[in-house]
Amino acid sequence: MTHPVIGWERETPVPNHVFNDFLSARDGRLYFEDLDLAQLFIGGRQDQGLGKLLPSPLEVVYLPKIRQKVEQMRQVFADVFAEVGYTGRFHYAYATKANTAEEVVRTALGVGAHYEMSSRVDVEIVRLMKGAGRLPPERMVIANGFKAAGMAYADNLVHLKSVHDNLIPVVEDLTELPPLIESGLQFDVGLRQKSYGHHQTEAEMEAANSRFGLRLADLWKAAEAIAAAPNLRLKLYHAMVGSQITNDRDFVARLKPTIEIYARLRQRHPDLSIFDFGGGMPVPMTLDFQFDYHAFVRLLLTTLQEVCAHHNVPVPDVMGEFGRYTTAEHGAHFFKVLTVKDNGSALSWYIIDGSIMTSFPDTWALSEHFILLPLNHLDKPFQRVQLGGITCDSDDVYPPKPSQSPLYLPVESKDLYIGFFCIGAYQEMLGGVRGSKHCVLPEAVELLVDRDDDSQYQFQIIPGQTAQDVMHNLGYAVPVDTIW
Ligand SMILES: Cc1ncc(COP(=O)(O)O)c(C=O)c1O
Repeated sequence: MTHPVIGWERETPVPNHVFNDFLSARDGRLYFEDLDLAQLFIGGRQDQGLGKLLPSPLEVVYLPKIRQKVEQMRQVFADVFAEVGYTGRFHYAYATKANTAEEVVRTALGVGAHYEMSSRVDVEIVRLMKGAGRLPPERMVIANGFKAAGMAYADNLVHLKSVHDNLIPVVEDLTELPPLIESGLQFDVGLRQKSYGHHQTEAEMEAANSRFGLRLADLWKAAEAIAAAPNLRLKLYHAMVGSQITNDRDFVARLKPTIEIYARLRQRHPDLSIFDFGGGMPVPMTLDFQFDYHAFVRLLLTTLQEVCAHHNVPVPDVMGEFGRYTTAEHGAHFFKVLTVKDNGSALSWYIIDGSIMTSFPDTWALSEHFILLPLNHLDKPFQRVQLGGITCDSDDVYPPKPSQSPLYLPVESKDLYIGFFCIGAYQEMLGGVRGSKHCVLPEAVELLVDRDDDSQYQFQIIPGQTAQDVMHNLGYAVPVDTIW
């Protein structure tokens, strides 16, 4: 039986070894690209400019990865456009819900991504980014999420339009149209198809139990209302069909009915020019991941060409809203193994100095797997173990309870540091930032890593929470200097 591969699966030491395109073992230490990770806690063999040791636990935000992901996806589309002679353009939008941290949004915008948003606070973030010169006028802001009349989000979008013209509200529900029409402002709008789920035909799609988007009858109604409104223009058709879809044929098969609808809509509404397949682009979170991005894009573009030719309409520009894809790999979270507990359980418990379940909520909520590797002692023998977080919660374990994936870590546990990788999408947002967490564990110190123009590492340390911060959040009046 196959299982997600989360790390080293042998008892033998790891030789110099490449785990994936950014993690490798060299002389017993783990590297993230060129960055020696063990140096963060026990010092480096070469000076990479950090200048000090850091406390554990530690979150690492590796910003160059975000730029790489955007550029790689652009390259995939450019390659396939040339190969199949596609005449539309590609638009990369960053779905900020995956990770809305300032440094992440700033980095994605810095490499030219459009901004996909989902709520009223996003509007404020866009305003700030705009003010800071990070969001040029030609950049599209795509507003998804519920925004019915009377909601602050709907009002904020109308305000935003006067600051940033290239704003495209995507209508989820017929109740979202009146505020746009009544604003009197000239809006390009999108329509979101009810399309989320595992379906292959229009009938299955219509029958799906999904709260997102418009069913077909309402989609046509909305398109007619937009055509009748003097200040609205239908520009974008949105069809998101799922998340982390790791089979390219399945992905396009789910999109196929929506491509048909796009073409029919385009026949009646000639301003329509963007097919937005939303999110769902898969990304490696474990070491067994396989997905051929070129094959997916080839199949998507040739399907668009065929269907559009059949309906005698031009091919659209293609947009993707990349959340997980943009951010999963840039985030890592490191812990120290505090103790090894052999209490008669089949496998030893390695207990770490933080919480797995609050740091990565998807491990217990969805039994999600992430890569887990030691940062040091890779050149020593390994044994099969289980990992326990420091909370009192029986779900604070890894691998997740129903998992069949074996976890091996070095037998040598003195000064052993471990890292969870590919946790940069959704985990921090779901766990909450700067809140107070399970068993009142404070939030870790954060290390932002970037590279300068000469490829030298640059570091910025963001302090973690103090006991006072945590208690203050919970309503305790903590006199200064009374914490031990
Ligand atoms: C409308 C919309 N777009 C994009 C995304 C991002 O999806 P992913 O993280 O799979 O890229 C989501 C995720 O829920 C979404 O709801």
